[in-house]
Amino acid sequence: MREEQVTNGIQVLSEEEQKHWHLIEASIWGTNSRRASDHFSSPVSDTLLDQPRWIQPHFLYDEKGSRLFEQICLLPEYYLTRTEDEILSQEAEQIISLSPAQCIVELGAGFSKKTTHLLREQLRQREEAAFAPVDVSLSSLIGSRDALQRQLPDLSFHGLCARYEEGIRSIEKTTPTLFAFLGSSLGNFDDSDLKRFFPLLSDAMGSDDFLLLGVDRIKEVEVLERAYDDSQGLTAQFILNVFEHVNRVAGGNFDLEKMSYASSYNSELRQMEMSAVSTCDQEIRLTKEDVTFLWRKGEGILVEISRKFDPDQLLQQLRFYGLESVAHFSDPREWFSLLLLSKG
Ligand code: AVJ
Repeated sequence: MREEQVTNGIQVLSEEEQKHWHLIEASIWGTNSRRASDHFSSPVSDTLLDQPRWIQPHFLYDEKGSRLFEQICLLPEYYLTRTEDEILSQEAEQIISLSPAQCIVELGAGFSKKTTHLLREQLRQREEAAFAPVDVSLSSLIGSRDALQRQLPDLSFHGLCARYEEGIRSIEKTTPTLFAFLGSSLGNFDDSDLKRFFPLLSDAMGSDDFLLLGVDRIKEVEVLERAYDDSQGLTAQFILNVFEHVNRVAGGNFDLEKMSYASSYNSELRQMEMSAVSTCDQEIRLTKEDVTFLWRKGEGILVEISRKFDPDQLLQQLRFYGLESVAHFSDPREWFSLLLLSKG
């Protein structure tokens, strides 16, 4: 057991936490779902009965959702992935030399395509390198593992199929680690998520650890709105697919034919808001949770927010959690920022 959890000398999971994980696939670990704090198991109806109604965004990433998101990343309108990838490819050498870590822990890694720039550099500059992607999507982790095994066979891959919180608290503290939180995943967090997430992350970080944070910046509304309502309708499919997932987990009767996709930029809160709007009065039943409610014509269910940041303001806010700026990288249009931080 222990041997398998230690990858070529670099310890990824802490000793005490190892008992909470088990191997679910070659090189991929899952949590033994026994924790009271496991938000994963909280009922969907909790948020669907709030006013306004909403859904936790992690439900977006079932197998189909993960595949749709990969396709979104290739859309001409969706500049985020391409821009971040450009910055990473140019600055990977600098980023890795500024953050001498043995292990890269990527939170919400998806297929980890952009991260390859960092991993390649990591292997080039250090003798050993471990990669621990944390993601709720097992199919993404498998895809990432298989691709990396081909591209970077010397890398130790240690996938963690879990939510961010679970991954963060299980990482071995004495291993110098670069935490990567890319792709503006932070944009999904509202203020109360932020206030829970950063103390947890900051506590888990030691003086040898770094954080690389990729965030989308405030820009022209037209550019933002186009990125979240593409001409092929992939974003609409991605957002509405959440209801198929909810139907499966909660025994729901959501009907994709009786809703439409709506998205807009909220300039006050500086965020894109992606919703489903009911096209008729309909009774929603969640049989596994013993809940029914009336979803009225025209009423929206908020599926996702995507916040846009002013990097300087964000850096100021992060200082409050003990995170200090080491370097700031951006693209020529200044559409996206990569912030490298350390525990000051
Ligand atoms: C993966 C959360 C960064 O907010 O841009 C893309 C998700 N939603 N198109 C984003 C998403 C609709 C994406 N994040």
